Amino acid sequence: MVEPIPPVDSRHKARILMCPPDFFGIEYEINPWMNRRVGSDSTRAAEQWRGLHRLLTDLGAEIELLEPVRGLPDLVFTANAGLVYGDLFLSSRFRHAVRQRETPYFDAWFAAHGFTVVTLPEGLYFEGAGDALFCGETLFAGYRHRSDSRSHQKVGELLGVHVLPMELVDPRFYHLDTCFCPLDPETALYHPGAFDEYGRKVITSHVPRLIEAPPEEAASFCCNAVVVGRDVVLNVGAPKVEQALRRAGFTPHATPLGEFLKSGGSAKCLTIRVDGEDAASWRTHP
Ligand code: ARG
Repeated sequence: MVEPIPPVDSRHKARILMCPPDFFGIEYEINPWMNRRVGSDSTRAAEQWRGLHRLLTDLGAEIELLEPVRGLPDLVFTANAGLVYGDLFLSSRFRHAVRQRETPYFDAWFAAHGFTVVTLPEGLYFEGAGDALFCGETLFAGYRHRSDSRSHQKVGELLGVHVLPMELVDPRFYHLDTCFCPLDPETALYHPGAFDEYGRKVITSHVPRLIEAPPEEAASFCCNAVVVGRDVVLNVGAPKVEQALRRAGFTPHATPLGEFLKSGGSAKCLTIRVDGEDAASWRTHP
């Protein structure tokens, strides 16, 4: 078990790891959004990625870059590298062989940047910040399509945190970060249709303030948003959610990310916080 992380310094600068989309593309199909025949437009993907990078920089985040690797089209989705907790990096165990090849590159980056890299036992599947998100002190964890629930138990033991595993019932929302987005320790945005009744109950009974994404807006991956303080960066196409965010005291910033949606990803998947602070837990390095 690791030492609990002391709370808060909200002036703390967000540090985010991204990977330029030089080799991004739809080269295999491992979720319902991916279609090799449709593919994606690499020029437009590069523009959209730069738009996201610029926006986050303008919001005061410091962006670190992972060097892209030819043959690893999904390395852009740094959220799946693992789970960052203080200076621990809990490396992912990808379900699909095509993504397992990313792990050495992610591990090397984290090791070179002062993190202690921890690997879960073999036979478990765990897809990092894509499936495990802190809201306050609690780790909300999604399972079925990618991570399994046993891995979340293990993560809870290793970190000494309370984990709430929830089954993801709609294959379009195959990672938790596609349908659940903690905004601060008491507030989250979520898409109820991605969970069964039990999962919805878990969320409604543990998060005091909730914003619901309607199905048509959830399909633009509005829940896959990057939170920097009170600013929320998300794909275009979710006007109702943007309005609800404003009412809840957040400032939405929409930027087109449609080329990444074709791979089943959006703003959040393209980023991982590496400052030890989780946006929604307001924690910082031990
Ligand atoms: N094509 C990638 C995959 O299927 C997309 C990953 C999106 N990442 C996320 N954190 N939701 O694995």
